[in-house]
Amino acid sequence: GIPKFVKIVEVGPRDGLQNEKNIVPTAVKIELIHRLVSSGLSVVEATSFVSPKWVPQLADARDVMEAVKNLEGARLPVLTPNLKGFEAAVAAGAKEVAVFASASESFSKSNINCSIEESLARYRAVTSAAKALSIPVRGYVSCAVGCPVEGAIAPSKVAYVAKELHDMGCFEISLADTIGVGTPGTVVPMLEAVMAVVPVEKLAVHFHDTYGQSLSNILVSLQMGISTVDSSVAGLGGCPYAKGASGNVATEDVVYMLNGLGVKTNVDLTKLLKAGDFISKQLGRPSGSKTAIALSRV
Ligand code: HMG
Ligand code: MG
Repeated sequence: GIPKFVKIVEVGPRDGLQNEKNIVPTAVKIELIHRLVSSGLSVVEATSFVSPKWVPQLADARDVMEAVKNLEGARLPVLTPNLKGFEAAVAAGAKEVAVFASASESFSKSNINCSIEESLARYRAVTSAAKALSIPVRGYVSCAVGCPVEGAIAPSKVAYVAKELHDMGCFEISLADTIGVGTPGTVVPMLEAVMAVVPVEKLAVHFHDTYGQSLSNILVSLQMGISTVDSSVAGLGGCPYAKGASGNVATEDVVYMLNGLGVKTNVDLTKLLKAGDFISKQLGRPSGSKTAIALSRV
């Protein structure tokens, strides 16, 4: 059977906005986070403490974090690629962080400018600094089914990186189909390989919807026992260092499916739709959520 409750990790303010060419005003980002938290989402990834040369859109990470750090009702993790980012995040008030490794050497190089092993060494430094401050660290594995350069990625590589992140103390490992090429045909064997080395309760799935496969991939993941799902309001998103990566699966669509399955999320779909409408209007384009489009017509 599938889990009775699914924890949604909303990544819109981070994964969703990081690829936007026009700089979104800091006040809009802050209001988006407020609206998402008010809709009942218990985890909202707020921003990234990465190099502003690499991701100019999130150069206001400190201001965003300082404005939301005392928000009640949700955890607000931020991405940290190294100790420098970790220290800046903590100084701005972050109480939870995430590190991001890749199962593909080529993508590791293009996204964080180092090899997989170098990234794991950096992340060991982050997890040990975090442990001393009792700050939980989430770990991502990008390119968990495919890489924009290398093509198909072997499940054993994904399992290796996931286990390393788990061993260094990450409380949760999010398996990310960065470019959205996976289908249940490739996702299931990948999950089987990872579940052999990391307990399923520690795993999350993170799908981009490039080929329209996200909901099918989420459903098979739930059937395999995974109960944490990443998604992005209005289907915003894409990685600036992954050519062809489109938005994340839309949170509204995930909530609609889970409601239909009778799976609890604690998310108020009406409030979530309003948050999606807010950010879509700010960005000046239609929502990437089919549920949002359908419900705006009725
Ligand atoms: P680098 O250029 O190799 O860094 O970048 P460096 O250590 O050589 O330092 C160069 C400069 O960057 C120095 O400044 C550092 O101080 C500065 P300068 O002396 O030139 O003025 N610097 C920093 N500044 C701010 N914050 C920091 C930081 N670190 C160094 N933390 C680095 C290496 C990792 C920093 C860079 O490659 C980077 O920031 N990459 C982040 C890219 C990114 O954010 N990608 C998107 C997020 S991942 C994603 O979307 C995938 C995910 O959604 C899952 C999925 O779908 O796959 C999570
Ligand atoms: Mg992503």
